[in-house]
Parts: sequence; structure tokens; C-alpha cells
Amino acid sequence: MAGPNELLAALDGVGADRRRGGYSRHVFDDAERELREWFVEQAEARDLRTTTDQNANVWAWWGDPGEGAVVTGSHLDSVPGGGAFDGPLGVVSALSSVDLLRANGFTPRKPLAVVVFAEEEGGRFGVPCLGSRLLTGTIDADRAGALRDPSGVTFAEAMRSSGADPARIGRDEAALRRIGQFVELHVEQGRGLIDLDRPVAVASSILAHGRWRFRFSGQGNHAGATLISDRRDPMLPASQLVLEARRIAAGVEGGRATVGRLVPNPGGTNVIASAVDVWLDARSPGDRPTRSIVEDLSGAAAKFAAAEGCELDVTEESYADTVHFDAALRDRLSGLLDDAPALPTGAGHDAGILAAEVPTAMLFVRNPTGISHAPEEHAEPEDCDSGAHALAKCLAHLAG
Ligand code: GLV
Ligand code: MN
Ligand code: MN
Ligand code: MN
Repeated sequence: MAGPNELLAALDGVGADRRRGGYSRHVFDDAERELREWFVEQAEARDLRTTTDQNANVWAWWGDPGEGAVVTGSHLDSVPGGGAFDGPLGVVSALSSVDLLRANGFTPRKPLAVVVFAEEEGGRFGVPCLGSRLLTGTIDADRAGALRDPSGVTFAEAMRSSGADPARIGRDEAALRRIGQFVELHVEQGRGLIDLDRPVAVASSILAHGRWRFRFSGQGNHAGATLISDRRDPMLPASQLVLEARRIAAGVEGGRATVGRLVPNPGGTNVIASAVDVWLDARSPGDRPTRSIVEDLSGAAAKFAAAEGCELDVTEESYADTVHFDAALRDRLSGLLDDAPALPTGAGHDAGILAAEVPTAMLFVRNPTGISHAPEEHAEPEDCDSGAHALAKCLAHLAG
């Protein structure tokens, strides 16, 4: 029997990023493999039956796998330099819930499973929720297999070198039929629960969000020998894009636009870049305003590029429309949890992808820093315990 804090402590140090701080755990890298193996060991130690599906998601079954199961879980990968809780808290709370239910003598009437989704953050191949998007067929399998990491390795190649068969990726009807309801527990990525002075919330909605790559191409050249008047420097429109993204998003209600990654090619101090890739993360409460942020920014970026004699190419890398979680399920779980408040979130989750297929809910655990995707992300041990107890209660209600 292990609580979430004890289980989380076992992951300490795995994938610790000494350069950036925090954790960098990316699908199929050494750290993420170690975490997957740890998960399988933990599941087997609980007599759960483990399988890896055709899309690299790992499942652990309490009893025989069957249709209409109650499923819980999250992910073990991280953003570059991320916190210890985003993802792992949902996985350790799921394992800990199994222990709590067993200790209470509970036997599920429905099949119950814990799942670990692959590449939730898109930290290696660029598309977030890749495992759940593949499972549900919301990304084309050929496109997914051809996604490249920064060193040029494709998702298919990475999968093959981890011993899996990339020929089978794509919508998995049998696995989907086995999911009756899905509940994901997650550290809160904001200040909602601090303000409400509560340890646990249920999720109401997820913002519409997506990622776009803006590639500005100019002329690589010598930083000293090239007159300012002779330059076609793609770093200029790239920089203007960063400022314009903030300006446009600030004018949209609930709008957010972020450039968290900008890569000049070739990237030398004394080299005018030949091209700059700028990744935009844009979000807002709806499809229309999110699309309008990107359209307005694309228009502005084309002008910035032209003024510097550069070319622009814009590619949509991923998109997910607004998610409203199943209201009946949300209210039922809130009622079970002393009327836990319902909070919206700006963060994407595998639960958001699954919500289009099956009744889905999320539980959030208070984060006293309000910070996420950074090493300062936190949850107090008592709140992690409250979260695991809350999850166990929900699972008992749904599977009992
Ligand atoms: C995932 O955490 C995201 O919202 O980017
Ligand atoms: Mn995240
Ligand atoms: Mn997450
Ligand atoms: Mn020289």
C-alpha cells in the first residue's frame, strides 16, 4: 500500500534536467522508458495485468480487460524543464487509489484500468496528446509516424527502436470500446484552488488551443561583413511576431498567445540566420477567437517578412477545439467530493481528447505556487493525499 507522495518520491531524479532545471522526460528517451518500466513494475506488484497498446500507451488492468471499463491515469512525459507533478501525479494517484480501494475491501463490478498516455506534452515530436490522438484517430497515422524530433528521428523510427511496431499506429476501436468512462487527476495549473481555499476541484472546460510553426526564410550571411542595408535577416520579422502575438492576444477575451520556442538556423552569434522557426501556442475560450488570433498574426507576419525581404511559411502542427466536460459526470463527482468546485483550465489534457469519445472527467489538486510547466510547480503532500482519496472515491462510485 503506497500513497501518492511515496510513489512520487520514487520518481525523484529520473530525467532531472541539470541544465534547464526541473525534469525533461520525453517519449522513448531513457528517462521516459525508465518511468514506463517503473509503472509496469508497480502495476505488476499490484497484480494488475499490463499491456502496451498499438499507440505506445501503457495499460494496467484490475481484473480482466473488458468493455465499458472505468479508466483513470495520465502521462509520465514532461515539457522541457518541467515540474514533478504534471502527469506523474495522475499516474501515482491512480496506483494509490487501487491500493486504497483494495484496503477498503472494494471489488470493482466493472473492469477498472490505469493508463499512461504517450507524448502528452508533445515535447519531443511537437504534437501534444499524441498517444490519445492516435488512439482516437484525431491525428492521421501516416502524419504521426512521420513527425520528427529536433534531431530528425521520426516517431515511427523512435517507436521501432523502443521495440514497438509503428505499422499499427492509429485509431484503436477495441481499446476505445474498453473505455466506459475516463477520469484524469492532474495538478492544477493555475490559482483557482488557492483562491477558493479548497484542495480538490473538478474540471469544467478546456480552452481551444493549438500550435503553429512560422518559418521565416532570408539570406544567411556574415554578421560583420554585411551592411545593414544589404540584409534579409529573418530574425527581424520573427522578433516582431513575438511582440505582435502578445498585442493581438491581449485584445481577445480570454486569449493567450505564447512563443516559447524560437530556433534560428544555423544559430551562430556571428551569423545572420538563413531561417528562423517560431512556434506559436495560441488559446482562447472558443474556436473562432483562437483562429482569429492566428489569422491576424499570420497577416501581420507576412507584412513583417516582406518588409525584410524574407519569405514566410505557416504550418498548423496541432489543434483542439474547446472541450466542455460531461456535465452529468462532473456534477456527480463534485457531489461525491463535498461539492468540489468546478474550474476551467487553459491546459490541454488527454482527457480533453477522450472527451469526444466517452464521458470524461478531471480532478484538479491544488498547486500552491499556481505555476506549471516550470520547476516551481508544486502540490503539498496533504493535498496529494486528498486527491488520491478523492480519485478512489470517484472510482468506487463509477466501478462499484
Ligand atoms: C499541456 O500541458 C498543454 O496544455 O500544453
Ligand atoms: Mn503539461
Ligand atoms: Mn499534463
Ligand atoms: Mn570568418
